[in-house]
Amino acid sequence: MRFFARRGRRALFFWPAALLCAGLCGAPTSRAASEIPHLEKRGAATQLIVDGEPWLILGAELRGTASSTLVNMSTIWPELERLNLNTVLLALGWDWIEPEEGRFDFSLVDGLIDAARKHHQRIVFLWFGTWKNGISSFAPAWVKRDQRRFARARLQNGRSVEILSPFSSAALEADTRAYVALMQHLKAVDDRHTVLMMQMQNEVGLNGDSRDRGAAGEKAFAAAVPAELMQYLGAHKAHLSPELARHWADAGSKSRGTWTQVFGEGPITDDLFMAWSYARYLNHVSAAGKAVYPLPVFTNTALAEIWSKRTHPYPAGGPQYYLLDVWKAGAPSIDFNSPDVYAPNFDEIVANFHRDDNPLFIPESAADAHGIANAFFAIGAHAAIGYSPFGIDDTAWLINFRPDKGTPGTEDFDNTPLAKGYSVLHNLAPVILAHQASGAIGAAWLNKAKPSQDIVLGDYTLKVELRRSTRDQGFLSELGYGLAVALGANEFLIAGSDVQVTFQPRTPGPAIAGIADAEVGRFEDGHWVATRKVNGDDILLNYKLAEQAEINQSGSGLRFLPGPPVIQRVTLYRYD
Ligand code: DGJ
Repeated sequence: MRFFARRGRRALFFWPAALLCAGLCGAPTSRAASEIPHLEKRGAATQLIVDGEPWLILGAELRGTASSTLVNMSTIWPELERLNLNTVLLALGWDWIEPEEGRFDFSLVDGLIDAARKHHQRIVFLWFGTWKNGISSFAPAWVKRDQRRFARARLQNGRSVEILSPFSSAALEADTRAYVALMQHLKAVDDRHTVLMMQMQNEVGLNGDSRDRGAAGEKAFAAAVPAELMQYLGAHKAHLSPELARHWADAGSKSRGTWTQVFGEGPITDDLFMAWSYARYLNHVSAAGKAVYPLPVFTNTALAEIWSKRTHPYPAGGPQYYLLDVWKAGAPSIDFNSPDVYAPNFDEIVANFHRDDNPLFIPESAADAHGIANAFFAIGAHAAIGYSPFGIDDTAWLINFRPDKGTPGTEDFDNTPLAKGYSVLHNLAPVILAHQASGAIGAAWLNKAKPSQDIVLGDYTLKVELRRSTRDQGFLSELGYGLAVALGANEFLIAGSDVQVTFQPRTPGPAIAGIADAEVGRFEDGHWVATRKVNGDDILLNYKLAEQAEINQSGSGLRFLPGPPVIQRVTLYRYD
């Protein structure tokens, strides 16, 4: 094996040292040390650029209060390293940094940054300011106590709830002041760019009613739809979400008027109105922070059913995919809106959120084997900036999605699906990032309901299927995934688990693709190192060769066994 590994070293895949560092190294390179983390369009993808190089977030989010003290974090940091994370998503509650009005205490922030550096992690801070899950529980007590100064949302039943109104200018000013102070502090202390991005609030949206019925809210609702929104909708008419376009058209496609004149009466119009109102609020906070220190800013969304299926209560106005046009118009200083994906149709949800003007990032989702399938798919099929499952300080999440209370956790961090899957993504990060930019990358996300997917890549169509039995061709697996990049005209690198891959030429010439050479391996110092040849039983997928030839198939392909993903490199040839 050792001898073979040495023979297998191929200088063919060599990257500059800087690119090798992409998403992997702790310290910034000197050339780019002054560059603030930012988003940049690179070829086909918008990427997060950190210290001059693209960064793939292999992240995870801790539960909301895990980062409230350094002592609580002290046992968590080593676990993050064992899970092969390079970035952690940590909450910062407003009340943790401004316990008294105007008195800021950033010792927690400094301690978190310091510990992250020691444990080779970067940070994305979640600003739990005015709202966390739409509720204002992380606002400091001096805000909560002063209901007269900080107006709350008024719901239809007239009862008081702990939700600050998005129409409260006092809340907006106070939140903005605190956030700006935080950004000033980060600018002053974070010369090593440990903090990569900021999440603005958490899962905003009004809980308990379709719109805020307080005096300021009702006044805004009775006024004309703001000209900026009407202009935006007019200019982007051909590309609006189908749901929004239909609703506007059904109400007569007017270009001015009050909310009900332009969009009609009812909860959908309330939703649009609240989306605009939240977007303006978050934009104000974000823009003020960026004026000081322009880290990328994003939102996360508690997903709701589409309008036709929605019933109350739901978080009105949150950045749902069909409201993204309103959010884009109202919050230009927010770089992207992200889905928190707890629903089973991950592939559809991420497709809805990934748009030219909205790069994909997943701040919350699963951490188990399904989660790794999600990560491969989002990163390979939608050029995602990264992936982050939720709640991994509760170790039951590492093996179960949405564990019930009492589900046993695991201490075997190194052998969790997350650690194993992230290890492969780490290894491939430079290739992935380069191919996200070139566009020569794709991915499949498979289950019983969707057992097969074609990926068109370069000169071939790759059919990725759940693993089949060679005896009767029945499917053997229930969850499978694969990420593929085209390294050359006849050469692919594929990483995956529990799938098989066959190839179909797409260009003129001999019609059947055969396997010239295939191996399992990994990258070491930018070189491909083969750890095993793949042939014979490994690649024979269907023995009925005559029948296979009838459909221009060789009967061979790549097979990925269940368990942690592996990387295979294949060179194809063609014959008739
Ligand atoms: C989504 C929220 O954004 C998280 O902060 C947390 O409350 C989870 N839901 C709990 O499932």
